[in-house]
Amino acid sequence: MQHLITTADFTKEEILNIFDDARIFLDMESSEVLKGKIIVNLFFENSTRTRGAFEMAAKRLGAQVISLDVGTSSTKKGETIFDTVTNINAMGPDAIVIRHSDCNFHKTLIDYVDCPILNAGAGKNAHPTQALLDLFTIVEHYNGDTEGKKVAIIGDIRTSRVAGSNKKLLPRFGMDVSFVAPDCFKSEDPEFKQYDNISEIIDEVDVVMSLRTQLERHNEMYFSSLHEYAKDYCITKDTFGDRDILLLHPGPVNRNVDISDEMLVDPRNKILEQVRNGVAVRMAILKKLVKDQ
Ligand code: CP
Repeated sequence: MQHLITTADFTKEEILNIFDDARIFLDMESSEVLKGKIIVNLFFENSTRTRGAFEMAAKRLGAQVISLDVGTSSTKKGETIFDTVTNINAMGPDAIVIRHSDCNFHKTLIDYVDCPILNAGAGKNAHPTQALLDLFTIVEHYNGDTEGKKVAIIGDIRTSRVAGSNKKLLPRFGMDVSFVAPDCFKSEDPEFKQYDNISEIIDEVDVVMSLRTQLERHNEMYFSSLHEYAKDYCITKDTFGDRDILLLHPGPVNRNVDISDEMLVDPRNKILEQVRNGVAVRMAILKKLVKDQ
């Protein structure tokens, strides 16, 4: 049985096969690939895109979905999250999709469940399905030619699980990843080039991935206001000029903090394409882990 805890759980060949399936699923309204299967969603943190896309993906494949309302679950009566998951597992689901603030929680579960665990976000550590849909969006844009492409990830790198997964995945496909952030948000990973301001590398990059400032994960206020932060890190028309650069963001976007209103309607921004791709990529991942296991 295979789980998806980090993108390293899939070989490059497996990822390319997932993308082949995702291309087919992009144009498919529904199928019966997972007919008779039951997928359980356990989201212990807020979500719009990931939870919605996993639900839609499972339903489009003909599976039934149970999204446990963790706000009214027995965790509120003192049950540990571990016990919640093992009890759900005892009911016999075909997969459990989990988002939790603990960076290592997903990994600890795999010896205690009888079905695939899919990581829908682990603290500030990993968000593998987001990175896979980001990669898919880049692959499709460049017709598979990702070798040597330069990707700048800008914003709150240190607490971003999206950066955590992409910095490992994109280089496997030949991409050169660097980070742009103020000192308080810089990565502690010495492997990557880091810049204070996007203007230092804007002429070299092919892709800019903007990130949200994860206020909920900070123990202190780093800026007097998000407006102060935005003066240097918001992507605007002026930042891009007329350069041919792909603009990505995992969402949710803080408008005029991460990206200006104007750039959110600019054709170089592929954010809603990422969201659409997210359903197809998750359909392909569910097919692989639930049907093809
Ligand atoms: N990209 C992402 O994880 O968005 P949600 O938090 O809305 O799921």
